[in-house]
Amino acid sequence: MAGDPAHDYTARYSVELAQEYLTMPPENRYPSVPFLHAAAKKRLPKFSYDYVNGGTGPGVGQERNRTALDAVTMTPRYVTQTGPVETEVEVFGRKFARPFGIAPMGLASLQVPDAELKFARAAKAADMPVGLSTACTVDIEEFGAIAGSNGWFQLYPPKDEAVNDDLIKRASDAGFGAMFVTVDVPASGWRPHDAYNGLAVPPRITPATIWNAAMRPCWSLSTLAAGIPHFKTLGRYSPDKSMRGMADFVSTQLGNPTSADRLKRIRDLWKGDLIIKGVMHPADAEAAIDMGYNGILVSNHGGRQLDAAPASIEVLSEIVDVVGDKAMVMADSGFSSGLDILRALAIGAKFVFCGRAFMWGLAAMGPAGVPHVINMLSDELERSLIQIGCPRLSELDRSWLSDHPRQTRYPNAR
Ligand SMILES: Cc1cc2nc3c(=O)[nH]c(=O)nc-3n(C[C@H](O)[C@H](O)[C@H](O)COP(=O)(O)O)c2cc1C
Repeated sequence: MAGDPAHDYTARYSVELAQEYLTMPPENRYPSVPFLHAAAKKRLPKFSYDYVNGGTGPGVGQERNRTALDAVTMTPRYVTQTGPVETEVEVFGRKFARPFGIAPMGLASLQVPDAELKFARAAKAADMPVGLSTACTVDIEEFGAIAGSNGWFQLYPPKDEAVNDDLIKRASDAGFGAMFVTVDVPASGWRPHDAYNGLAVPPRITPATIWNAAMRPCWSLSTLAAGIPHFKTLGRYSPDKSMRGMADFVSTQLGNPTSADRLKRIRDLWKGDLIIKGVMHPADAEAAIDMGYNGILVSNHGGRQLDAAPASIEVLSEIVDVVGDKAMVMADSGFSSGLDILRALAIGAKFVFCGRAFMWGLAAMGPAGVPHVINMLSDELERSLIQIGCPRLSELDRSWLSDHPRQTRYPNAR
């Protein structure tokens, strides 16, 4: 795309990058998520980069997330500015300084060793929520010991109910502050790039893998030193403890539809705040509320599951209207700037999660990249609030949008 810094940066890499790297402070070198994205692409082997970057199918849904966010315009008011900026929000009775957190991402050590623990440390220090995937590559207990109640466990309900129940118990014992139940993976997402790259856990040693890893020696050395990534939390239940055996076990346990009965059972087992993740239809939000779920995460999994799915931001207003104050509505998928976060909050979401933005920060800069992304998104959000003339988040509503997306596209919703 012409004018896209990620694109331009990639094209003129090598000598110029070395010069920038040696002479520029990180805040200048990586002033926005697209810059981090471009740098991460240069540091990760192709199979690892494609795994994070890719959407499902041809990637139209992922693109739609971006174009739909860009389409949300806000009309600034310059002569009624009042007071200092306030971005504090209350979520499930707890105050957070910023209205965003780190989304759960599985297989994260394929990008950076112990990536999940690095997210946990940064989130704890900034006092913000951080998700841990069922498909994580660390132990749920070691993550919990760092993140405490800032950790929100993400459950993919495994096929085996005993495993399901034990995971919930472990998350509770490890002190997680809330739990997501992800419902938008009734079948594993079809990602042609991963198929082309022969992506597997543990990685298959093929000439292509060796070539890709050799092209990224820093990644290869740090990954080899830390140990081949595998599903540490879930692998424990596998009868076959070889790497391949654990991976096969995980693939048979996950990627199944979640029945309403299972969702109700999970509600009974988890005593804390419970969020259904992957809601796109208002009727699903209502059904979850009827089951006792008190959080609704409007998400299309970052465009990784159904290419025809609408963008989260397109269905957000209808879901906010149906839910009202019966649950906390949150959003994710495609959010990569403070302005994007502001767009969702103006429509009525109370909180936003970002996935890839944080992974690009970590892959590009190492652990310092996570607080860098936090600060960057906070700064962009504050600037945007001042720019529209509504410095206090608590006063933000749809009247700040240029269009008021009030139309109901789902007349069959209750
Ligand atoms: C590499 C990667 C792995 C992911 N793994 C999971 C997962 O294990 N469980 C889950 O519920 N969502 C998973 N997601 C989806 C994220 O939680 C979140 O919905 C999505 O990343 C938001 O879109 P964004 O990346 O554009 O911010 C994953 C996303 C990415 C990019």
